[in-house]
Amino acid sequence: MKFFLDTANLQEIQEAASLGVLDGVTTNPSLVAREKGDYLENLIRICETVKGPVSAEVVTTEYDSMVEEGRKLAKVHKHIVVKIPMIREGVKAIKTLSSEGIKINCTLIFSAVQGLIAAKAGATYLSPFVGRIDDTGHDGMVLVRDMVQIIELHDLEAQVLAASLRHPMHVLEAALAGAHVGTMPKSVFDQCFKHPLTDIGLARFLEDYKKSQAQGAAG
Ligand code: G3P
Repeated sequence: MKFFLDTANLQEIQEAASLGVLDGVTTNPSLVAREKGDYLENLIRICETVKGPVSAEVVTTEYDSMVEEGRKLAKVHKHIVVKIPMIREGVKAIKTLSSEGIKINCTLIFSAVQGLIAAKAGATYLSPFVGRIDDTGHDGMVLVRDMVQIIELHDLEAQVLAASLRHPMHVLEAALAGAHVGTMPKSVFDQCFKHPLTDIGLARFLEDYKKSQAQGAAG
């Protein structure tokens, strides 16, 4: 499963990219609103840092304006993936833009049939929002499993991008469900590296090594 960071913060992206296991970035208008500076310049810096797919979302809801926005965003950098919401006008825009060779991430997917429609329209990535479904008292991961199954059964090219992942268990379950990509906030990415037994084990190894060196020097 590819790891994407769900942020528009360049510093977070630089930190994660320096570890060598970051495959891409997803942004949305809420994440972009938290950042200072020129939006398009920030996007270029993000693309050059991550050197992989970077989703940038349209902020209009009519077919014509989404297509226009999508074309403009796609020209900003070769790594840009245009993010389009799962609405009827959005599906039309996905069809047009994807047939022009523009990569699309269809966002705000809350049912597997919505995902199937977006895949048929030509979206490269399908983004089910796991955490937001969990928030309603339902199991968001069921949607990821269903979407992966549909893609495999029907030999579709789209990739399931598990989004709205809130903790490492979401990341684990998305990977086990066969999601092609998991996008997560930097805090969740950081949590995924940690295990107390790793820290305890390392401290013990280093302590034992130090002791053996001291004994060697004494003997
Ligand atoms: O990738 C979608 C994500 O930005 C939504 O996350 O935690 O706001 O549901 P969340």
